[in-house]
Amino acid sequence: MQTYGPYDPSVDYVPGPAPRPKYTGRANEAGGAETPSWRPLHMSRRNFLRGVACSGVVIGGSSYLFSGTTPARADTRAVERLVRLTVNGRTHSIEVAPNETLATTLRYRLGLTGTKIGCNQAECGACTVIADGITIYSCSTLTHRVRDSEITTIEGIAGEDGTLHPVQQAFIEELAPQCGFCTPGQVVSAVALLNRNPKPTIEEARLAMSGNLCRCGAYDHYLRGVMKASERV
Ligand code: FES
Ligand code: FES
Repeated sequence: MQTYGPYDPSVDYVPGPAPRPKYTGRANEAGGAETPSWRPLHMSRRNFLRGVACSGVVIGGSSYLFSGTTPARADTRAVERLVRLTVNGRTHSIEVAPNETLATTLRYRLGLTGTKIGCNQAECGACTVIADGITIYSCSTLTHRVRDSEITTIEGIAGEDGTLHPVQQAFIEELAPQCGFCTPGQVVSAVALLNRNPKPTIEEARLAMSGNLCRCGAYDHYLRGVMKASERV
């Protein structure tokens, strides 16, 4: 068994590898090393790390650029086409994307911002408009589905001279609007009800208004307004 004496700092206890021959760039010459498979990197550690970071950005960016979404987007744009809509008595020919909702078209292409977008998923009724006599949630209706339809928004409810519709007047008298965000949808639903049933029972009115939520909880006020308006139409 091998034994060691006291530690002697002059002794190389763990000898390292034999020194490599100096690389001269000339292969197999006397005194020169074999041509290595690598080239010496004249690069600082900082520059090396910077290069690694940049390559990560390039790889990430290329995966985005060449992902499947790019051609799909291009296709989407390519099939945009013209739609004819009659809104509040005015006919418009507008270019809309295939996946564009009526609420978007009304608000952002036609500037009719009275139609509100609350939940944007067919739950609150803030976006209610009338299409060919039927109330619809414009946030969940594709504009292409209602092409050539007659649309009525809140902007088309009052008379051209600014006279309020009996529903609007009754809602004011009953102090129905609180924050007012749901009010355009409430008005449109009530008008559509009275257009097809001018003398609804309170249960019929409640049912007709049930698709319009009010965060302020002014349901009774709106209901009383509908019943009051029904006496005036
Ligand atoms: S925004 Fe359309 S139903 Fe809520
Ligand atoms: S009045 Fe505020 S949400 Fe109905």
